[in-house]
Amino acid sequence: MLANMNHEIYQMVSQTKLLPLYTATDLSCLNLLEEILIKHDVRLIEVTFRSEQALEAMRILAKSKELVVGAGTVRTLQQAKDAVANGARFIVSPALVPEVVEYCIEQGIPVFPGTATPSDIQKATEYGINVVKFFPADIYGGLKAIQALHGPFYDVKFLPTGGINADNYQAYLAHPAVVSVGGSFIISEKLIQQDQGMTADRVLGELVSRL
Ligand code: 3PG
Repeated sequence: MLANMNHEIYQMVSQTKLLPLYTATDLSCLNLLEEILIKHDVRLIEVTFRSEQALEAMRILAKSKELVVGAGTVRTLQQAKDAVANGARFIVSPALVPEVVEYCIEQGIPVFPGTATPSDIQKATEYGINVVKFFPADIYGGLKAIQALHGPFYDVKFLPTGGINADNYQAYLAHPAVVSVGGSFIISEKLIQQDQGMTADRVLGELVSRL
C-alpha cells in the first residue's frame, strides 16, 4: 500500500489545505514565489508541465529547504521520471495514468491521480490509493458529486481542483472527504508579476486567514 494518509506529504497536504498549482514561464518570479509561500506557511507547490520552463522551475524551487515541490499535469511516465530527477517529491495528474501511478508506487512517491467518475476512483483504490484528485471539480458536480461519491468511497479522500476559487474553497474544505483544495487561484505568476508580489501576497494572506 502506497498512498495512505500516513505519508508525510499527504499529511502536509491535509494540514496546509491549499495546494497551489503554478505554471512557470518566467523563472525570475520564483524567488518571490518562494518568499510569499513561506511567509504564509504554505510549503507545498505543484509546478505544472504546461510550460517549457517546468523542469527548470521544479529544479530551482526544490533547492529551497522550506518548500516541498511536486509536479502537476503529469501525463506521461517520462514526465514523472524527469520531475523526480529535478526534485519533485509528489506527482499530480489530470487523469489516472497507469504507468505514472505504477512508477510512483515502485518509487514510493506520493501520487494524486485525477479522477472524476466512480470507475476512476475504483481504479485508484485498486492501486491502494486512497487520496485522489477530483478534476475538474466544478464541471463534474462539485460538492454534490463529492458527497455522492463519498457514499460508496467512504474511505477515499478528495483533492478537488478545477474551478475552485476564493468564494467556494471554504465550502469544499468543510466537507469531511476533502483533504485539501488545489488550483491556480492560490498564487500565480501573473499575480506575482503585477506589483512585485504585493497582490499575490495579499491574496494568499487572505485565503490563509480564512482557513
Ligand atoms: C488543474 O489541473 O488542477 C486545473 O487546471 C486547475 O484548475 P484552476 O485553474 O481552475 O484552478
